[in-house]
Amino acid sequence: MSLSRVTVTAVRNLRPVTISPSPRINILHGANGSGKTSLLEAIHLLGLARSFRSNKLQPMIQHEQPACTVFGQIEQQNGISNSLGISRDRQGELQIRIDGQNARSAAQLAELLPLQVINPDSFRLLEGAPKVRRQFLDWGVFHVEQRFLPAWQRLQKALRQRNSWLRHGTLDAASQAAWDRELCLASDELDSYRRAYIQALKPVFEQVLRELVELDGLTLSYYRGWDKDRPLTEVLASTLTRDQQLGHTQAGPQRADLRLRLGAHNAAEILSRGQQKLVVCALRIAQGHLLNQAKHGQCIYLVDDLPSELDEQHRQALCRLLDDLQCQVFITCVDQEYLKDGWRTDTPVAMFHVEHGVITASGVNP
Ligand SMILES: Nc1ncnc2c1ncn2[C@@H]1O[C@H](COP(=O)(O)OP(=O)(O)O)[C@@H](O)[C@H]1O
Ligand SMILES: [Mg+2]
Repeated sequence: MSLSRVTVTAVRNLRPVTISPSPRINILHGANGSGKTSLLEAIHLLGLARSFRSNKLQPMIQHEQPACTVFGQIEQQNGISNSLGISRDRQGELQIRIDGQNARSAAQLAELLPLQVINPDSFRLLEGAPKVRRQFLDWGVFHVEQRFLPAWQRLQKALRQRNSWLRHGTLDAASQAAWDRELCLASDELDSYRRAYIQALKPVFEQVLRELVELDGLTLSYYRGWDKDRPLTEVLASTLTRDQQLGHTQAGPQRADLRLRLGAHNAAEILSRGQQKLVVCALRIAQGHLLNQAKHGQCIYLVDDLPSELDEQHRQALCRLLDDLQCQVFITCVDQEYLKDGWRTDTPVAMFHVEHGVITASGVNP
């Protein structure tokens, strides 16, 4: 799967533009502030209806413009192509179009356009709150397991019920017991999908990591959000008083996490920033491999600024791994020389020069 055409209007400093990217490697080069990240952000908006730079979409809209819009044409592995469009105005109105129809939810976009971001904030996957790692995990599960989304929605509904009951106590005991049963069923289902996913991801991650950096003894494990030896019903019963005091449910899949450890330590506490970024790259590339296996459709990688922070050897290793994925990649750098090599000779590489918000195709190899 790849984007064969992208049209961007009124996103940050970018002049209205349509580009025809290579199905494989696309290098965006240009000075700081020229608009490279903005183009990646526009593609991200198209796939996820949000930015990776901030929680707010408003700052993405070009000054003096009423709305920003991104269109994309995607080509699926099976020969089908889809047109996607998204528009966000200053009043907060979001419009999503898929093949000419209004879409119901952003999940439909995400399903058609799976995106992976690797950027200077990537280390947060290790250092940040569990929520960031859950998002990473669920991205993978969502794309390989169709039953994930309904199970997740069931869980959210049951959890909202329980938390409201914990705070206000307005539900009778029998109804609450029924909701708790629903909560436990949805939790077990979700847990089984996440567990299966991590089991599949682990060996791929380890393999990719070995090719990228030497970090013997790094382990990835999954915490399901409650005691691994006790059923959730039992845990919920034992923490009920505390849950009532806090007004929310402490144990469950909403607390799941991934753990990366080096020996007895949390990896985030002892790895250098550079090493952390390489670990994150390996995790994200491993997810791409799993998606390839599951769907024969591939995800698109948005790689921002990272190459400039890696030494030559690791940069080349990263390029090689991205190349091996056979995915479409959009990768930014200041100096095009940085990323000229590192790709296989027969991999199509398109170059785009970005200058003061103007994007121009500057060459294709081979
Ligand atoms: N809403 C906006 N309207 C117009 N320009 C903006 C807006 N938001 C940011 N910019 C400008 O867009 C430029 C592009 O930034 P960016 O895409 O981060 O550049 P690069 O990644 O090439 O360094 C910056 O100079 C920034 O000041
Ligand atoms: Mg940038």
